[in-house]
Amino acid sequence: MNRNLMFAFLLLAALAMVNAVPYQLLKRDRDIGYPCPTNPEGSYIYANLNPFPPVSNQPINYTIEGGMLGYEITPYKTAITIAYTDEHSEVYTKGLDFYYAKGAPFSIDVPDVPTPQLPSTYAIMVIIADKTDDPNKAVLHACSYATFGL
Ligand SMILES: *[C@@H]1O[C@H](CO)[C@@H](O)[C@H](O)[C@H]1NC(C)=O
Repeated sequence: MNRNLMFAFLLLAALAMVNAVPYQLLKRDRDIGYPCPTNPEGSYIYANLNPFPPVSNQPINYTIEGGMLGYEITPYKTAITIAYTDEHSEVYTKGLDFYYAKGAPFSIDVPDVPTPQLPSTYAIMVIIADKTDDPNKAVLHACSYATFGL
């Protein structure tokens, strides 16, 4: 084959790969990733679930990634909450015991989150918030959700 033609083929193949990879990453990286209406500006958070989609009563390993320009993750104060909601909510909370600075991209594994009996339509919310002295009040740092069965 002509050398120039071969080079052109290689270049095309490389470009096609460059195009394919980000698309797959995007698709795969956002099992949960719509910002909640209450999500603070400057925060983003998304989660990958294993297994996905959720199966009733089968625990899920969550990998939660994001970044928060306005907030840090403070050991023993910041917690991740995962909420399964339809008419009522099943809530799972995990306190965090490590530090991330403001703006630092984080990746946090939350293994073995119990899955409730799932109705045909429901939402999952992933929330990062700080506990305060008032147990009914938390300071929201980041929040995203996904709906299922809609
Ligand atoms: C979830 O993580 C635990 C270890 O933390 C592992 O033993 C288990 O196989 C994982 N489950 C799935 C579905 O990957």
